[in-house]
Amino acid sequence: MRVAVFGAGYVGLVTGTCLAELGHDVVVRDVLESKIEALRAGHVPIHEPGLEGLLERNGERLSFTTDVAEAVDGAEVVYIAVGTPPTHSGDADLSAVWTVVDELPQVDRRIVVAMKSTVPVGTGRAVRHRLDDRGLENVGYASNPEFTAEGTAVHDFLEPDRIVIGAFDPADGDVIESLHEGIDAPIVRCDVPSAEMVKLAANAALVTRISFINEIANVCEATGADVTTVAQGIGLDRRIGPSFLRAGIGFGGSCFPKDSLALKQLAANSGYNFQLLNAVIEVNELQKRRVIGKLERRIGPLRGKRIALLGLAFKPGTDDMREAPSLVLAGRLLSEGAEVTAWDPIADGRAHLHGVEIASSALDAFDDADAAVVVTEWPELRELDWNAAGERMRTRVVVDGRNHLDPDEMRRLGFVYEGVGRSVA
Ligand SMILES: NC(=O)c1ccc[n+]([C@@H]2O[C@H](COP(=O)([O-])OP(=O)(O)OC[C@H]3O[C@@H](n4cnc5c(N)ncnc54)[C@H](O)[C@@H]3O)[C@@H](O)[C@H]2O)c1
Repeated sequence: MRVAVFGAGYVGLVTGTCLAELGHDVVVRDVLESKIEALRAGHVPIHEPGLEGLLERNGERLSFTTDVAEAVDGAEVVYIAVGTPPTHSGDADLSAVWTVVDELPQVDRRIVVAMKSTVPVGTGRAVRHRLDDRGLENVGYASNPEFTAEGTAVHDFLEPDRIVIGAFDPADGDVIESLHEGIDAPIVRCDVPSAEMVKLAANAALVTRISFINEIANVCEATGADVTTVAQGIGLDRRIGPSFLRAGIGFGGSCFPKDSLALKQLAANSGYNFQLLNAVIEVNELQKRRVIGKLERRIGPLRGKRIALLGLAFKPGTDDMREAPSLVLAGRLLSEGAEVTAWDPIADGRAHLHGVEIASSALDAFDDADAAVVVTEWPELRELDWNAAGERMRTRVVVDGRNHLDPDEMRRLGFVYEGVGRSVA
């Protein structure tokens, strides 16, 4: 099939490239000239493992443009994969989605617009009305939400747990289903609002587990239990399962915070107070800040102290810093009067962090530091020569916000080590 993908971001690029891998001819359209030029020159503007190789391999079936008519020309499916960031009210900002809907040209054949962007329930109906108002009755609509995780997105797209397709007209759903031929996964066919809700509910379930285990970790800290053992013990229960039970300094990224806020807001707009989700969001905010208290307990008031932040991306395997806990931590540390040095193997903190010194190597980040904080569980940090790091520090203090390091080994090397929800020695 011929497919147009609007939006060359984390989702649009992965979607377009993977659809090309499945044998489709794909045109990816973005409004950013620089992005499209980079892609045409063979440069992938984001860090996503496996994407560059896949893009190269499918170069013949992939093209990039800023031009709407060129993208839609001959296309049977038009994917919308533009950003839907939060507005000040917490609702999703759908302005980029509406721009795409309004940009669609008249076509003299049936095409299907498929929504990959995460949108509030009810968006599909509103888009349907707008298409009808524009006389685009021959343009079908389907919701085909995306569940890929940054860092493993290519694998997640080609080997998904499930594919969800909601359509007003079953024939449009069939078109989207046949696009995925070659992928072996259960397919959930449903109405449009249910497909929209599956995406929001899935993310809400995941963040609920994260805040749950973080609260268990906080109680472990107060009572002397070890959350890593507790997580293992409960994760082996088949009714619970082991995933998303890693205690840490809270969730971030471009999806979890905004999607949980959007669902909370969606519920509130419909007159329902989603109390559980409110608590999940609040727990997450407080969790990021607990690091400050831990540092103060170990090294005293932070004014004038030098803190090394290790990891800036919201999780390993990506360069994405949107809503990363590192941003909150850096801001809090600076406002306490600390000096902050940061390091990340991929994410470029310069654009996001003002007043923070960016170290060019992990070891450089430790120079004269009074304490270091593991913010992102990059494998590089496990492999680091921690003795060499300690030699560069003023005091060997590590707050491990991801329970990423071996506490015994760190203590053997003379570090004061504190993780999350682990016994404090
Ligand atoms: N990032 C993820 O892992 C992920 C996973 C699942 C779902 N989602 C959802 O997918 C959507 C996209 O997320 P993302 O992370 O890829 O965003 P992104 O910001 O990386 O990319 C969005 C792209 O859309 C482009 N764009 C804006 N207006 C456009 C237009 N009119 N035509 C064409 N392109 C336009 C932007 O220039 C940008 O390059 C969001 O709704 C997000 O919630 C993201």
